[in-house]
Amino acid sequence: STLIKDIYRNSALYLNQEIEVSGWVRTLRASKAFGFIELNDGTFFKNIQVVFEEGLENYAEITKLTTGTSLIVKGILAESPGAKQPFELKAQTIVVEGECASDYPLQKKRHSFEYLRTIAHLRPRTNTFAAVFRVRSIVAFAIHQFFQERGFVYVNTPLITGSDAEGAGEMFRVTTLDLNALPRTEEGKIDFSKDFFGKETNLTVSGQLNAETYCMAFRNVYTFGPTFRAENSNTARHAAEFWMIEPEIAFANLEDDMELAEDMIKYIINYVLEKAPEEMAFFNEFVDKNLLERLNNIVQSDFERVTYTRAIELLEKVKDQFEYPVEWGTDLQTEHERYLTEQVFKKPIFVIDYPKDIKAFYMRMNEDQKTVAAMDLLVPGIGEIIGGSQREERLEALEKRMKELGLKQEDYSWYLDLRKYGGTHHAGYGLGFERIIMYLTGISNIRDVIAFPRTVKNAEF
Ligand code: 4AD
Ligand code: MG
Repeated sequence: STLIKDIYRNSALYLNQEIEVSGWVRTLRASKAFGFIELNDGTFFKNIQVVFEEGLENYAEITKLTTGTSLIVKGILAESPGAKQPFELKAQTIVVEGECASDYPLQKKRHSFEYLRTIAHLRPRTNTFAAVFRVRSIVAFAIHQFFQERGFVYVNTPLITGSDAEGAGEMFRVTTLDLNALPRTEEGKIDFSKDFFGKETNLTVSGQLNAETYCMAFRNVYTFGPTFRAENSNTARHAAEFWMIEPEIAFANLEDDMELAEDMIKYIINYVLEKAPEEMAFFNEFVDKNLLERLNNIVQSDFERVTYTRAIELLEKVKDQFEYPVEWGTDLQTEHERYLTEQVFKKPIFVIDYPKDIKAFYMRMNEDQKTVAAMDLLVPGIGEIIGGSQREERLEALEKRMKELGLKQEDYSWYLDLRKYGGTHHAGYGLGFERIIMYLTGISNIRDVIAFPRTVKNAEF
C-alpha cells in the first residue's frame, strides 16, 4: 500500500495514478448513490478521503460499515473539488479487512484524556495520541543521534540491581521467594541468601552508578532505558516506570555538564520542529497555544544559572503564596520550581549547589562543606526535567559521605574501585524522557505521554 504520509508529502507523484491505501475508518457517510470515508493509516494524523459510488460491487455492504473498520482501498487519486482536502481517492475496489463491533469506544467526538486512559490500547488511534507517540519515537531517535554525533558510547545498564543509586529507598523488590513462607535469619530478617540472586535485589532507580564504570573506560557514555521508582506520590509528573537518559562524561566538571544538557535540549527542540512540523502545529493549536513560541524562544535563549541559596532568597520573598514552606535546607517543590522559571526568570534555569543533605551520596562536596556540585534543570510549565551533578571522585571524601549516610561500603566496593584505579573528575545527569515529551507537546499529565502508564494503583494493560 501507499502510505498516507507519503501522499501528503509528495502528492504530485501520485495524482491521477492508481494506488492502494489501507487503514482504519475514522468516519463514513453515504447516500443512495455515493459515500465518503475518512481513512487513517497510522502514518500521519491526517486522513485521506475515499469517495465511493454505487457502481461498486459491495456498495451496500460498505455503506453499513462503522468507525474503526479496517479496509484496503484501490482507486485513482484525484484533485478534490471540496475545499477541506487537497485530494481524494476515487475507489475502484474496497476490501473489508476487519469489521468493527458496534460497541467501539472511539466515536467521532472529543473524548477526555481521562477517559482515553481507560482505553490505553485504543487511544493511539486518536489524533492527539497518534501525534504524541509519533513525537516520542522521533525524540528518542534525536537523543541517540545527539550523543552518537558526539562520539558517546551507548551503554545498557542492568534493570535488576543490588544497589539503591539515589539512596531514597524508593525501590521495587525483585524476588522469587514465597512471601508467605519467607526464610528468616537468626536476627529475624528475611534471608535473601536463599533467593535467586543470593542477595536482596530490586529494580533500578537509575543506571548512573553502572554508567560511571563505563565512563571510566570510554570517557563519554550514555544510557537510555527504563527506570523504576516506588514513589508514593500521585502527581501528574511522576510515574513508577519511566525512561531516563543518563550521559556520563569524564574529565568534566559541573559547568561542562550544564553545557552538554543545554546543547542537548536545544538539539532536541530543533530536531522535533524540523522532523514533525505537523504534529507540533497540531499541539500548538489544540493542546497549548503558546507552545511553538515558547520552544522557539528557548532555542534562542541562554539558560540561566542560579545557586540554590539565591533561589531560596527569591522564594522567601513571596513565601506566603506557596503551599509548602521554603527555607534554606528544604527541597524545592514543583510550585517553587515553577515560580522561579515562570515568574522570575521566564526561561529554563539551572539551579546549582544544593545542600548536601537533600542530594544523593555520590555528589561532589563543595568547599563550603555544606553544599554539593549538583544541578537541576527547571523549565517553565513543568519544573525539574534534568537532575545531575559532578561526582565525588575523591575516595576519602566519598567513603566519609557514605559512612555518614549509613551506606555499607561492601555493597559499593566496585563503585569505590573507580576512585582507586585511575579515577578522574567526571559528571553526568539524568533527563526524564517523559518529562521532555510533556515539555515538547504541552501535554500536562505524564500518563498521557507513556503508552501504558504505571502509577500508584494502576498497572493495567
Ligand atoms: O533527579 P533524579 O532522581 O536523578 C538521578 O536519577 C540521577 N542518577 C541522574 C544522573 O545524574 N545520572 O532523576 C533524573 C530525572 C528527573 O529530573 C526527572 O526528569 C526524571 O528523572 N524523574 C522522573 N520522571 C518520571 N517519574 C518519576 N517518578 C521520576 N523521577 C525522576
Ligand atoms: Mg532530581
